[in-house]
Amino acid sequence: MSNAQMTPNKDLAEGFAHVGALFAGDDRNIEEIYRDHRANMPVMKGDICAELGAASFAGDTGRPIYTIFKHADVMKVLRDTRTFTSGILMETGLGQFLDGLMITGLDGDEHRQLRGILQPSFTPAVMEEWRETYIRPLIQTSFVEPLISLGKAELVSTVGVMFPIHVVYAVLGFPDDDPAALETFATKALRVLGGMANDPEAKRAAFHAFQELYDPTLAAVQARRASGAEGSDLISRLIRAEFEGRTLSDHQITNFVRMMLPAASETTSRTFAIMMTHLFDHPEVLERLRADRSLMRKVLDESLRHDAVATFKVRETQTEVTIQDVTIPKGSIISACVGSANRDETVFENPDVFDIDRKQMASFGFGFGAHMCIGMWLAKVEIEEAVGLLLDKLPNLRLDPDYPRPVVRGVHLRGPEAVHVIWDTP
Ligand code: HEM
Repeated sequence: MSNAQMTPNKDLAEGFAHVGALFAGDDRNIEEIYRDHRANMPVMKGDICAELGAASFAGDTGRPIYTIFKHADVMKVLRDTRTFTSGILMETGLGQFLDGLMITGLDGDEHRQLRGILQPSFTPAVMEEWRETYIRPLIQTSFVEPLISLGKAELVSTVGVMFPIHVVYAVLGFPDDDPAALETFATKALRVLGGMANDPEAKRAAFHAFQELYDPTLAAVQARRASGAEGSDLISRLIRAEFEGRTLSDHQITNFVRMMLPAASETTSRTFAIMMTHLFDHPEVLERLRADRSLMRKVLDESLRHDAVATFKVRETQTEVTIQDVTIPKGSIISACVGSANRDETVFENPDVFDIDRKQMASFGFGFGAHMCIGMWLAKVEIEEAVGLLLDKLPNLRLDPDYPRPVVRGVHLRGPEAVHVIWDTP
């Protein structure tokens, strides 16, 4: 790839900022608000996400909404998929555009079967193979090496926004010799994400982007099937995948690919930027990581606990339930506040402290239970590679003193707006 790609794609950077703004909410101190809720009102009737000014998936369903704040309650809700179902996500999120095939919005056997077909393509072993074949070479040559001689950069727009989309594009097995096709794919991917907000304009743009992605993706799936689908790329794996005698049709694979775009891009971009921010905020951790790369997972896991990207999980009650003495009617929406649960002082000692050595306890940055992120290992491997290569190839990487320090903020989607860095040039 040429240095041209180091100039941030304007559409992409703007799309990313737009989506961030829709989900950011206001600037109140959410840690304090959540702490107060955990202590005094751990189940609240109402949608705290909307109250804090952020676009919410729970907002426009017409059903009663309850927000829950404690770790134990969030775990209970995410674990019990019979009582707390996900079908509501078909109505409020991207399910509207996916012909009912959005896995996050499926329940029961339908979900179990689809997950059973998909899971073997996302195992740690597959990711270790992709790390060597697709991910490290791509991030090194396309994102990190072009930076080396520059001496300074803003990491969100030059690296963070684009690398996860490029990784998805690569693991799908699309050819890497057509930059225009990649850019079209990437721009549509971000528009799709905008459709998750309760914003009519963004929803319309997302719908069009989704439609435009259908035909080329279906054609790629059909071509792969016709040529035997023997490769280790994701489309070929999904064509070969089988679970309890079931396989995926070309239409289903096309829809899964379209669904992956919003699931795999923004989340990974923001988690990368959050992790870089934590490293610069904690120079002692940065030094330990420079000396010992085996700490990468701990730093990433603690980054996701401290600042999960997607901070609310939405479910619907199938029966009347009681949580913390509050009776919640059947058919209500539960908005599980992951941002609060991950800082619950009854589970995590000094929860607001970023501590990579803390005792490992379940946190919910990748969700929990049946719907736990299927792309978790992919996300971990690509973020590890991006961070590791930046540290390897950009000597003495540090914050640029000419810019404000990055700050992780946001109610519904978290992350820093920008991470300006400098390094020593050869
Ligand atoms: C750091 C990056 C990521 C974060 C923080 C993240 C977070 C999450 C969370 C919290 C859920 C659970 C949703 C729920 O319970 O309602 C989820 C589900 C999912 N994620 Fe991720 N994700 C990331 C990256 C990825 C990637 C790279 C992929 C690529 C395949 C992906 C695909 C999915 C899918 C398909 C589901 C639905 C699983 C199901 O419903 O069974 N995610 N993700």
